[in-house]
Amino acid sequence: MHFQTKNTMRIMNGAALARKIRSVLTIEIEFCKNKYGRSPKLSVILVGNDPASMTYVKSKGKACNEIGIESDLHFLPFSTSQDELLALIRQLNEDDSVDGILVQLPVPKHIDKNVILSAIDYHKDVDGLHPMNVGLLNTAGDCIIPCTPKGILSLLKSEGIEIAGKHAVVIGRSNLVGKPMAQLMLRENASVTVCHSKTRDLPYLTRQGEILIVAIGCPNLINADMIKPGAVVVDVGINSVDNKLVGDVYNSIDVSSIEKKAAAITPVPGGVGPMTIASLLENTFEIYKRRMKVAL
Ligand code: GUN
Repeated sequence: MHFQTKNTMRIMNGAALARKIRSVLTIEIEFCKNKYGRSPKLSVILVGNDPASMTYVKSKGKACNEIGIESDLHFLPFSTSQDELLALIRQLNEDDSVDGILVQLPVPKHIDKNVILSAIDYHKDVDGLHPMNVGLLNTAGDCIIPCTPKGILSLLKSEGIEIAGKHAVVIGRSNLVGKPMAQLMLRENASVTVCHSKTRDLPYLTRQGEILIVAIGCPNLINADMIKPGAVVVDVGINSVDNKLVGDVYNSIDVSSIEKKAAAITPVPGGVGPMTIASLLENTFEIYKRRMKVAL
């Protein structure tokens, strides 16, 4: 006999929220452009021609242009030296028409990522990766928040998910996602466990997570046995399997045992990805408003 359990798991629609954010930004940016005579502008730098990075950079530029943010894409050859890259960053730092500067990661091995990220004027650091912004996030200061964690938090809040007092388990400790995500959750008064590739007995820890955020880039890492009943699961994994984009959570949007366990989940694609871009647009406009001294 086959029993069909009623599916009550919510799919958190990042694509829909991102659309809403973009349409509000479009109106606000049009208003500011008319009032202040200048559009916000984001400069994006890519060194080398990694196909995935190329796609990301182009989609960032397109997303900007669609809502009235100027984009200025710099495609530099793989052979670009660290000094040449630093010279371009210096020039963009000093260019008053540029609000946001983003260096797409990863950079080639002959370039020191930390030197590059520290060279960006931290006021223009749309990614929130400059040590000053990282430090301000860790001390609950006023800072630019990295786009993916910021997008995840916006999505959870818009879905009405309580964070304060909950146990959030974050898998992944990258500077781009895991670490800032854990800090944001702490700021929201969650208790936080951070796991990573060396963590022993990962299933024991993931089962404690009332909010489980998986950002390690490992397809099928999380199965139903690793999820606490009623948990909210955020799948940040971007993996390409057989030319299909899949997350880190096993069978995440298929009819599966996970549906009977989790209360809510982000789909891949259409969950966190669009929210990352929406947050990048928000950060760029936020910096523009600060620089133009627009009353916030
Ligand atoms: N590479 C992958 N994701 C990102 C991101 O959000 N920002 C930058 N700068 N590089 C990335």
